[in-house]
Amino acid sequence: MQVRAQTAVTAWHHNVEEPWAPSTEFGLDFQALPFNNFGMAQVVLERLTKVFQSPGGQSVRAVDNLSFVVADQELLVLVGPSGCGKTTTLRLIAGLEEPTMGTISINGQVVNDVPPKDRDIALVFQNYALYPHMSVYENMAFGLKLRHYSREEIQRRVKDASQFLDLTACLDRRPAALSGGQRQRVAIARALAVKPRVLLFDEPTSALDPEMTAEVLDMIRELGAEGQDLILVTHEMGFARVVADRVAFLAEGRILECGTADQVFNAPATESCRRFLAAVLKY
Ligand SMILES: Nc1ncnc2c1ncn2[C@@H]1O[C@H](COP(=O)(O)OP(=O)(O)OP(=O)(O)O)[C@@H](O)[C@H]1O
Ligand SMILES: [Mg+2]
Repeated sequence: MQVRAQTAVTAWHHNVEEPWAPSTEFGLDFQALPFNNFGMAQVVLERLTKVFQSPGGQSVRAVDNLSFVVADQELLVLVGPSGCGKTTTLRLIAGLEEPTMGTISINGQVVNDVPPKDRDIALVFQNYALYPHMSVYENMAFGLKLRHYSREEIQRRVKDASQFLDLTACLDRRPAALSGGQRQRVAIARALAVKPRVLLFDEPTSALDPEMTAEVLDMIRELGAEGQDLILVTHEMGFARVVADRVAFLAEGRILECGTADQVFNAPATESCRRFLAAVLKY
């Protein structure tokens, strides 16, 4: 895993002030990649663009011609200022937004028209997004029912995920009767129960106290170490530095830098990345 991730790092690192652009007419330069096996790449974004139309008639280019590959078993961390398109990128990958342009491929298959439940992906949202009228058990079972698992399989998966996240005592409660940390654990357990190929985390610790944050980060680290494909949006730069196979810095919907944590954090090549890091690492 490490060798492949390192190779991918070399292939995709770029150090230019201009946003990275694909080098072929078709988007990605597959031949240029040394590991030369795109069957292994879990997520490929090609020129992905999302333009939102606001009621006032203005358009917002939330994701702008974005191209990148998340290799098999890779942990990619996305960082960038508020509003730069991190959440929109994850929502596009998960199928919760429709791209204005570009393609999303998972494991070699273009999934633009594949519904979210069939994408082999689960997203843990910034704000838990639990169903308030359902118990913890029902919250965890909901996605599995959508995928038509048998009753026994659903029970087994909910049991496994709730044990892993220490939630067995809470299964009958509604989200309102849980602490913030417990809610986030339910959100993570719900995603894990699906056993997705790719797990997307959108600032999973932004609403947690330091102790819970450390607990959730430990769990993400463990998942990464087990080889789970992960894309993580986080402001926890210390954590990103430790766990990321690669870090991508986004600004205004584009990737401005992508490389190892050392490359991006210690030697940022763009002024906007330097400014962002100076702001988030100030205290
Ligand atoms: N449904 C929507 N309709 C209109 N504009 C939207 C919509 N969702 C997001 N946007 C806009 O798209 C841009 C990117 O938003 P996004 O939520 O992806 O940013 P982000 O990087 O996740 O920010 P944050 O760090 O604050 O969570 C922002 O300008 C945002 O206002
Ligand atoms: Mg966001």
